Amino acid sequence: MPIELFNDGNHKCIKFDDLTKEGEIPANQFMVVHDKRGLLLDPGGNKLFSQLSAEISVFAPPQRLDYLVLSHQDPDVGAGLNGWLLMTDAKIVISALWTRFIPNFCTSSFAENRIIAVPDEGLDLELSGAGFKLVPAHFLHSPGNFHLYDVTSKILFTGDLGASISPPEENITNVDQFEEHIQNMSGFHSRYIPHSEACRRWAAAARKLDIEMIVPQHGARMSGTECVNAFIDWVDGLTCALG
Ligand SMILES: [Fe+2]
Ligand SMILES: [Fe+2]
Repeated sequence: MPIELFNDGNHKCIKFDDLTKEGEIPANQFMVVHDKRGLLLDPGGNKLFSQLSAEISVFAPPQRLDYLVLSHQDPDVGAGLNGWLLMTDAKIVISALWTRFIPNFCTSSFAENRIIAVPDEGLDLELSGAGFKLVPAHFLHSPGNFHLYDVTSKILFTGDLGASISPPEENITNVDQFEEHIQNMSGFHSRYIPHSEACRRWAAAARKLDIEMIVPQHGARMSGTECVNAFIDWVDGLTCALG
């Protein structure tokens, strides 16, 4: 079932969290709809395409998608691009570091003149008048990595940063007890994130944003000032793979 993270009537943020199959990495996919135009964030691989394209149609048909935003280059983020490019006129938004890898995910001609290369310093994006910021999150974990900040909902979509795996019986979708949740995040961050310097830079930038909710690509979201700040503090103090 799609989960509404935000809805003010004209602006909706939707999370899809039950489409990945057994044996695949469990992942969330996201759609933002503003004024009947859509943006898809980290839509995932080929196996999700049919079901996700059907599910998003409830909110806006694929023909109304303007952007396919990829936080980084991983297959669980964008390996299903071919179908989306075929079905929509949407532009791909991805780090300039990864644009030349896009043809590995799709028929090359489908992507021609449809790639927005995000420079290292980030980019502002507009969807039918609604503002978004691509916030630099390099080396968290990919060297060319961006988080999507939705100015309207004040949600920061953090890709793999904040990724968690909770015990199946707990099925946590929204973090209540941050301290208890740390154990669900630690394994990924201590191995996949290369260095704490990347964490400290991100934390300094995140503290300047007005954030209501942190929503990662895997696992539970963190809502409210207290939990958001606890998460930023935790990232700020992380020790990672190389230090
Ligand atoms: Fe990743
Ligand atoms: Fe991921």
